[in-house]
Amino acid sequence: MESNLVNSTEEHLGTNAIAGSDSADKKESSTACDTSGDLESYLDSNTTGVSGLTISQEEIDEILKKQDSRKVSAFEAGKLDRDAKKNWDIFYKRNETRFFKDRHWTLREFEEILSRSSDNKEETENDKCDSPIVLLEIGCGVGNFAFPILEVLGNLKVWACDFSPRAIDLVKSNPAYDEERIRAFVCDITEGSCFSSNEFLVERKPDFISLIFVLSAISPEKFEGVVKNLIDASKSGTVICFRDYGRYDMAQLRFKGGKKIKDNFYARRDGTRAYYFTPEEVSDLFTASGHFKLINCDYVHRRTVNLKEQVDVGRIFVQGKFIRV
Ligand SMILES: C[S@@+](CC[C@H](N)C(=O)[O-])C[C@H]1O[C@@H](n2cnc3c(N)ncnc32)[C@H](O)[C@@H]1O
Repeated sequence: MESNLVNSTEEHLGTNAIAGSDSADKKESSTACDTSGDLESYLDSNTTGVSGLTISQEEIDEILKKQDSRKVSAFEAGKLDRDAKKNWDIFYKRNETRFFKDRHWTLREFEEILSRSSDNKEETENDKCDSPIVLLEIGCGVGNFAFPILEVLGNLKVWACDFSPRAIDLVKSNPAYDEERIRAFVCDITEGSCFSSNEFLVERKPDFISLIFVLSAISPEKFEGVVKNLIDASKSGTVICFRDYGRYDMAQLRFKGGKKIKDNFYARRDGTRAYYFTPEEVSDLFTASGHFKLINCDYVHRRTVNLKEQVDVGRIFVQGKFIRV
């Protein structure tokens, strides 16, 4: 069954809606009108509680087998990789600031940022001015993470980067963009030493680095290079806040034949790509360098129930925190 909501965002979800609707929750239903036809963002920002996955391993195996039957050719995979920046830039040309909703859950989930900020608030007024907490946000998009967090934490500065020049222009054109508090710049996190001559990082290393639904957009063979850049960008004590798509999330299982690039890595219709992680993979990626220690990393299960839009789906994300030693 496909709702309008699903059709309008199928590029970021695949093609078959997994929708049903018997256990609608009133609160969730009432938020449905805010969705503006943006299912992925809607699912992400309106999800609640813990859900069990209602699909069996046999069903998953069957879906994966179908996806395997027709894979993206090596030529096309190479082109998708070369065009990654262009495809995201076109995504922002088409969607501007309308696609992702503000991510208000982040402070709840990454409470360290909040507590570090309130520790600072207990310092003297001078300290407060001299030592704000600094967050480096990687793959900031149009600022759906940065602006809400800046609004809540007066003692925070954000350096926000993305490789899409259009996304960065959109961040800069946000009425809340104040250079005293946020600086946005274009940067491709897969390029070697991408931060080495960065004017902000030369001056000061961040206390936090966030990667929110960013690594999944990058080819897995470049993950290690990304971590190398994070090592350059961080100092002892910097906390990495990671959240991204989890293995066998409904969005992964919705991909049909012709979309799989390699295991757990897919191309959407608009050419952007998505990888689906296990917590173990994420932990290994950060800790293998010897520069980051695991604080925690696990699956986060969320459920969205919406009677009106006939949406009732479990989502699976991976969320982790790592500290630079
Ligand atoms: C799914 S969006 C998430 C945006 C934002 N973090 C949020 O949660 O709303 C992925 C973002 O990562 C950016 N991105 C993808 N690959 C990147 C790279 N190699 N370097 C920097 N940004 C990248 C894209 O341009 C896009 O804005």
